Amino acid sequence: MRLRRKPHIDEKLQNFADFVTRGAILTITKDPTRELYVELGTGKGDFITQIAERNPQINFIGLEVEATCVLAAARKVREKNLSNVRLIVFDVENIAEIFSEHEVDRLYINFCDPWPKKRHAKRRLTHARFLELYRKILKRDGEIYFKTDNRGLFDFSLEQFAIAGLEVRDITNDLHANEPSENIRTEYENKFSAAGVPINFCVVKFANG
Ligand SMILES: C[S@@+](CC[C@H](N)C(=O)[O-])C[C@H]1O[C@@H](n2cnc3c(N)ncnc32)[C@H](O)[C@@H]1O
Repeated sequence: MRLRRKPHIDEKLQNFADFVTRGAILTITKDPTRELYVELGTGKGDFITQIAERNPQINFIGLEVEATCVLAAARKVREKNLSNVRLIVFDVENIAEIFSEHEVDRLYINFCDPWPKKRHAKRRLTHARFLELYRKILKRDGEIYFKTDNRGLFDFSLEQFAIAGLEVRDITNDLHANEPSENIRTEYENKFSAAGVPINFCVVKFANG
């Protein structure tokens, strides 16, 4: 996926350069005293700002390909005055460029684009080719927390996790039936839930050698 940049948005993003640049990311990835959680496809930032607020002792990075979404997320980060969040306009395809090997403790994939056509399956963020990228950057016992409204994508993803030899736990096809108190709803989660669509969830565990 190409980065969708618009010059006037880039200009506005300059106002958030203290936490929305590659350089800003380095200031928290190199902190050995804190865990690092990364959200892929952060959208407008509802999830990352809430989880970061609840967990000030953990560092968070949001990767999002749409600059307009990053701008919306950046405004929320500033409004909440969060010092443990960094954001970047970035395509997950290139994730190995910004993280060192085994640097990340946890990945969140919330309502990623389902790419329903079979010929686009490789673009799904849970495709086995992405899992191999994640394996490189995740710590040896790192995890992915995955949520989606799309049952087809969920079933496909479970197959991909199996192909990659990954353990999966806490699988549910209706997360809100018995919603854990620690669950943080994303923008899309609220939208789908309000429309009566059940939410699929699981945790994927890496056991990197
Ligand atoms: C369906 S939205 C979900 C947004 C948010 N995570 C939520 O749950 O409300 C998917 C988001 O992922 C972003 N996205 C899709 N492919 C991406 C990629 N390859 N790298 C980074 N972001 C991506 C889209 O721009 C979009 O904002």
